[in-house]
Amino acid sequence: MSDLDMSILEKKKLDMLDAYIDTFEDKQLNIITILHYAQSVFEYLPKELQLHIARKIDMPAVKINGIVSFYSFFSEKQVTKYIVDVCRGTACFVKGSQNLYDIFSERLKVNEEGISEDGLFTLNSIRCLGACGLGPVVKINDKIFSHVTNDMVDDIIVEYREKEKADES
Ligand code: FES
Repeated sequence: MSDLDMSILEKKKLDMLDAYIDTFEDKQLNIITILHYAQSVFEYLPKELQLHIARKIDMPAVKINGIVSFYSFFSEKQVTKYIVDVCRGTACFVKGSQNLYDIFSERLKVNEEGISEDGLFTLNSIRCLGACGLGPVVKINDKIFSHVTNDMVDDIIVEYREKEKADES
């Protein structure tokens, strides 16, 4: 691995991927299989990983990106367990949903792609959820939280973190 971002691509996983790629005589012919394996190991196919594969099998990175973009079963974005949708439609916005979004963003320490520091949440802002009378509204996966106040944000996050701990034990 040369100048790739080690914080994103863990060395051990990368070694597994390289070893897998080396099992193929014609690596380019097996690009779909290789990408499937890479996604099963890394859970998604970030640009850095696509570049690594491109170099490893001597295929233009743009061609690999074309394949990843074409097939819906490949994802360039990390898929988190919980998707937090903060409604920023007009009715929710005037009731303070921008503040809610900012507080979620700060508490979850999201990166520029909206992924939380612990990799558990993705934070999105979305348009009207069709429940304006319940605003401000926050949806986490299939569950709707209504009349959400700033003070409720920490409790909501704790609820999901505890759920996660329970699932792991
Ligand atoms: S604006 Fe938020 S539910 Fe309609």
